[in-house]
Amino acid sequence: MEPSVTRRTFVQAMGVGAGTAAGLAPFAAQGADNPENTLKIVAVACSPRKGMTTAQALGFCLEAAKAVDPDRIETELIDLAEMEIPGYMAAGIPLKPGHRDDFPKVAEKLADRGVAGIIIGSPVYYRNVTALCKAFIDRCRVLRAGFALSNKVGGAVAVGGGRNGGQELTLQAIHSALLCQEMLVVGDGRPTAHAGGAVWNPGTDDISEDKIGLATVRNLGRRVAEVALQRAPAE
Ligand SMILES: Cc1cc2nc3c(=O)[nH]c(=O)nc-3n(C[C@H](O)[C@H](O)[C@H](O)COP(=O)(O)O)c2cc1C
Repeated sequence: MEPSVTRRTFVQAMGVGAGTAAGLAPFAAQGADNPENTLKIVAVACSPRKGMTTAQALGFCLEAAKAVDPDRIETELIDLAEMEIPGYMAAGIPLKPGHRDDFPKVAEKLADRGVAGIIIGSPVYYRNVTALCKAFIDRCRVLRAGFALSNKVGGAVAVGGGRNGGQELTLQAIHSALLCQEMLVVGDGRPTAHAGGAVWNPGTDDISEDKIGLATVRNLGRRVAEVALQRAPAE
């Protein structure tokens, strides 16, 4: 087992400590092995609008993940909406005066050994991810430096205002980033079985009527949980 990293070295690696070269130092996975044999699946909502359609879709996704094995699966939704994630720090530029950096606390959660699955959700903006999502993905560079997310199961959810507004391209953009992290990317499980959660917001901010889209979201959650459980059989 790799030694756990102290809070201090973690913070330094994230680039918020004095004297670091803007958060580019690699670091290992965090935490101890889980004695209770539970697995955590975390979803990250990358809309600038808190609690809106992307976060709601991820809520359905996590609900389906939990239902696979309520005793063993824990879930958490991280909403980036009110966080500040300066993307420029990924390029080694130090935090600018007057800016705040909330990325370290998110990274710390994702790198935890108990996290077996990570689902990234983004609204579709111009047939791609949001700027917030891209900044988050870029900041995950420090996690890649130590491959702290290696072998975690990964999935993606995209919510667009058009029925065919670029959801699949957005899913693909997220998948590409997860592959670079050496994660195990899965799509929505059968019977829909395509690239992940692809949801339509018809302009009302109410996704409840998109039955097909919500089926893809639920099948993704189930699939992430099933694969995570297969990789960590009960003792
Ligand atoms: C700047 C901007 C660009 C957008 N571009 C697209 C687009 O290319 N395709 C699409 O289907 N929807 C597009 N939308 C609509 C959003 O994807 C849609 O409203 C989504 O549900 C928003 O997610 P949220 O409720 O989590 O904020 C765009 C919205 C904004 C604000």
